[in-house]
Amino acid sequence: MSSISDYRATFTGEPGYLNFAAFGPLSATVRDEVVADVNMLGTGRASSIDHVAGRVREAREAVAELLGGVADEVTLQPSTSYGMAQAVFGLEGGVLASAAEFPTIPTLIVRAAESFGRVTPQWMTPPSGFVTPEAVADALRDDTRALVVSSVDSRTGFRADLRALREVLGEDRLLIVDDTQGFGTIVADYAAADVVCGHGYKWLRAGRGTGFAWFGARAREVIRPVLSGHVATEAGIAFDEVPPPHPTAQAYRLSEPDWLAASRLAAAVSEVAAVGVAAIQDELGSLTDRVIALADAHGMRVLTPREPERRAGFVALAPRPEHVAPLAAALANRGVTVTSRSNLIRVAPHVGTDDETFGMLADALAAAPRGA
Ligand SMILES: Cc1ncc(COP(=O)(O)O)c(C=O)c1O
Repeated sequence: MSSISDYRATFTGEPGYLNFAAFGPLSATVRDEVVADVNMLGTGRASSIDHVAGRVREAREAVAELLGGVADEVTLQPSTSYGMAQAVFGLEGGVLASAAEFPTIPTLIVRAAESFGRVTPQWMTPPSGFVTPEAVADALRDDTRALVVSSVDSRTGFRADLRALREVLGEDRLLIVDDTQGFGTIVADYAAADVVCGHGYKWLRAGRGTGFAWFGARAREVIRPVLSGHVATEAGIAFDEVPPPHPTAQAYRLSEPDWLAASRLAAAVSEVAAVGVAAIQDELGSLTDRVIALADAHGMRVLTPREPERRAGFVALAPRPEHVAPLAAALANRGVTVTSRSNLIRVAPHVGTDDETFGMLADALAAAPRGA
């Protein structure tokens, strides 16, 4: 077990960075581990190569531990979208999602419907795009077979209640979760989900190439392994025949993962597990409280829910549309990095965010036009 201050020490980026919901500057631990593994791959020694290849298993075990599952249920993927494609392309019947989700979800549902003809898209348009249990209950139909939802909405920061969604869905429908903006930062009830996908390049600070997908028992029964490659059989690489897909979640893979990406993911997830997701969640709760307090002090509307259990690591500010560009300019001029999209300014601190960065944010808000 390490302390939150050990964890904080792995943040070595420059002040002003408030964009962890887009990209997490790499953890010092991750950088050290991957450099060691790169050097091992340069030796040509079989034992060193095997050691680095073993990072795949380590990463799967580490992800499984955070999700409360087992390594066999976890596959490594190049990114969240690859993992989500494994799930969505293998579905059949009505697939419900909010039309306002991050484009990974609607795009895959539409492509699945166009290409395989087994999926019928069912769109919901809840207020502010918040996928609440009530909104899902209103949108559910008898032929809905799955709900696809982000654990934390990438635009608004709204955190879904996975257990309440499961209760509305019942036991016969699948709950497929894009956990890109939640994994490693929120204590979520993953047992309520059937598929959880994420990646390591934002909050885990592991860089790109570090996606994963977990498939629970119900998902494995229902989801056809459409994107199942030559490595994803029990026979391993088989010539002169095409064996059936692997009987476990390892069927949902196209090819071998990148060992160095696995090394980065394993290091990052182990680092998070050592400090504990609950401790990180608490810290992010205080940091997002500070962002909300600054926004309130400058009369800026906040779209992210104020209840700590309905938000995660970032806050979406909703200035008047004519104030978005001046605020974005004020932030950029003071060296503050955020995401400005859809007339929202997304402010995403992390455990290493210091007072200097908050001071820069406060200066920028003070310089921008006032009012919601
Ligand atoms: C909620 C959500 N899902 C999916 C993605 C895309 O992830 P990837 O690039 O790993 O496919 C993002 C990226 O911002 C995201 O915020």
